[in-house]
Amino acid sequence: MSKPRLVSDAKAELALAALRPSEYTAALIQVLQAKAASVRGAKVLEIGSGSGVVLAALGELGAASLCGIDIEEDAVESGMLLLAELGHGETSELYLGDMWSPVAGRRFDLIVANLPHFPMERSDVPGRLPSWSAGGTNGRVLLDPFLEGLESHLAADGRAIITHNGFVDLDRSREILAGFGLSLGVALTTLVYIPEDKLSRMTASVLAVQDGRTIHRYGPYAFGEMRIVEIVRQGMAG
Ligand SMILES: C[S@@+](CC[C@H](N)C(=O)[O-])C[C@H]1O[C@@H](n2cnc3c(N)ncnc32)[C@H](O)[C@@H]1O
Repeated sequence: MSKPRLVSDAKAELALAALRPSEYTAALIQVLQAKAASVRGAKVLEIGSGSGVVLAALGELGAASLCGIDIEEDAVESGMLLLAELGHGETSELYLGDMWSPVAGRRFDLIVANLPHFPMERSDVPGRLPSWSAGGTNGRVLLDPFLEGLESHLAADGRAIITHNGFVDLDRSREILAGFGLSLGVALTTLVYIPEDKLSRMTASVLAVQDGRTIHRYGPYAFGEMRIVEIVRQGMAG
């Protein structure tokens, strides 16, 4: 017979399940591992820290300090627990807040983000919080303020490493960054599985243009191109 569980335990389990890492998270961690030399000793910030697993990976790679921001209370709580459990509690700070606001005036050596930037309106996707993936009609509702605020939070030789869907205009991101003296390079291109319940919510005009270009369908199964991009100051080696 299974042990009766507290309601709060069940709620915590649901929150943890909703924050589970995705293929985007995995690809981001893969690139961070490959760039371990830039992580060692770095003051790190993650916007949209979710479960805290990306910060945990950065801690294991030797980051000097870990700062995370998320709009969801459950994410901040889970992230703090995970980082404390892995021995990074002393060097970690997690904030409940919107985008850059909790770190106004501060600069970091490495900024990472796997932002919600799927081109769809905010809606309930089964098993996820509404704030997880939705990036508005063109996917840029959070991406643009992130790119626009980046330069003023990067240390002199700082860099950012972020996920960027192939079906969200990469040239537009390059253009925004160039306006701040930053340049963007692609560190990895990979395919991510797009479940039908998510694809059916994609902005119709985006799907119409990207189907067969950055979105590849095989019968009922669809995959989207996703890039991990690295952003540095213009003239700095990537
Ligand atoms: C795609 S998830 C990535 C989570 C985690 N970094 C990972 O890779 O597994 C996006 C995260 O951004 C958070 N988020 C959404 N809007 C935000 C905002 N305005 N400011 C900060 N975080 C936000 C969500 O709560 C979610 O945890």
